[in-house]
Amino acid sequence: MDTSLHPNDAFAGFGKLVRSAFVLERDYAHLNHGSYGATPVSVLAAQRVWQDRLELEPSRFMRREYKPAMRAAAEALAPRLGVEADGVVLVENVTQAVNAVLRELDLSAGSEILLTDQTYGAVRNTARHISKRNGWTLRDVALPFPALSADEILTTFKAALTPAPALVIIDHVTSPTALVMPVAEMAVAAREAGALVLVDGAHAPGMLDLDISKIPCDWYTGNCHKWMFAPKGCGFLWSSESRRDGMHPLAISHWYEEGYIAEFDYVGTRDASSMLCMSSVLSFTDAHGPKRIRAHNHALVNDAADMLAKAWKTERGAEQALTGSIAMVRLPDGLGATLEEADTLRNRLVDEFRVQIPINALTGTLWCRLSAQIYNDIGDYERLESAVAEIS
Ligand SMILES: Cc1ncc(COP(=O)(O)O)c(C=O)c1O
Repeated sequence: MDTSLHPNDAFAGFGKLVRSAFVLERDYAHLNHGSYGATPVSVLAAQRVWQDRLELEPSRFMRREYKPAMRAAAEALAPRLGVEADGVVLVENVTQAVNAVLRELDLSAGSEILLTDQTYGAVRNTARHISKRNGWTLRDVALPFPALSADEILTTFKAALTPAPALVIIDHVTSPTALVMPVAEMAVAAREAGALVLVDGAHAPGMLDLDISKIPCDWYTGNCHKWMFAPKGCGFLWSSESRRDGMHPLAISHWYEEGYIAEFDYVGTRDASSMLCMSSVLSFTDAHGPKRIRAHNHALVNDAADMLAKAWKTERGAEQALTGSIAMVRLPDGLGATLEEADTLRNRLVDEFRVQIPINALTGTLWCRLSAQIYNDIGDYERLESAVAEIS
C-alpha cells in the first residue's frame, strides 16, 4: 500500500460517489475488475469520437491519420511505463503479444521454456502450441501458495533455474492466485542463468507503480484494458532494443520488414479506437490521481480480505506486501473443492445475489479472488459475506 497518503485522502470521492462514472449495472457488487476491467463513460465517449473520425472519411483516416495517431497513443503511454516510446507498440491484448513473441523465438530443438504452476492458461497454451511445432519442452516451477514472502517465491524460482532454461515467462501479478511477484529480482536471476525473459504484466499497468526500465527483461507485455481503464482491446508490448529487429506482429501486413514500429502500428484495416483514445484513458486516471487510485484500491482490497478471512475464520492467499489490487481469501469449508463446484458457486453468487467474483479451486478447497477499484466500497464485500453466509 502507498503510505504517503493518509487513508482518508485515498477514500475521499470514491466508492458510490464515482459509480456513475462507469456503465456498470447498478445494484451489483462488481468484485472482478481484474478479469476484464471496466471502462468509464468518458473514455467510451472518446473512443466513439475516434470511430466517427474513421467513418467520416475512411480512406483519409486509414491512409493518412491512422499511423500517426497510433504512434501518438504509444508515445503518450510510454512514459507511464518508464520506457521510451521506440520500444512500445500497441496490441489488442497480452495474449496476442505473447503469441507474437513466442512465434519469433529462434531457439534450437530441445530448448526448454520455464513457466510456473500459476502461468495464465492462454499463455501456457501458446507456449504448448509453439513448443510442439519447434520441439521445445516446457517445465513448471511450483510457486508457494499461500505465499508468505517475496523471498519464499524468489528462493523457489531461483532453485528452478538449474538446469538453465532458454526462456522464462514470469507473471508480474498471477491470475489464479493474485500474487504480486518480485519480478525484478526474478528477472535478474533468470538473466544471470542465461535465460531470455518475457514478463506477462497483464494486471500490472495501473495496478502497480510500473517502471519497466527497472526490470531487466527482453519483453514486457501488459493490458491497458484491465487496471488503466482503457476500452477492451488495448494492450502493449515493449521489446528491449536488441530484440526489436527480429519481431513481427501476428498479422504480417503492408509494412513487412519496414521495422518494428512500422510493422506493429499497421496490421491491416481495423477499428483501433480502443488504443487511439489513449489520451482520454490517461486523463481519466490523472483526474483522480494515479497514486490515489492505487492507494484506495490497495487499502480497500486489504481491508476486505482481512474482514472476510476473519468472518469466515479462514486465511488470505498472501500477506499485504504481496498484494496489489487483487487478493485471495479462502472460502469457508463445505462449499466444495473442485473447479466444477467453484463454477457452480460463482454462478449462484451472480444469479441469486448479484455478486460477480472469480472462485478458484486450490489447496483442496475453494478460494475467491477479490478485486478493488475506485467504484467499490466495503459494502460490496459485505454483500459477498452475507451471500456466502446464506449459501453455507
Ligand atoms: C496473468 C495474465 N496473463 C494474460 C492474460 C490475458 O489477457 P488478455 O485476455 O487481455 O489477452 C490475463 C488475463 O486475465 C492474465 O491475468
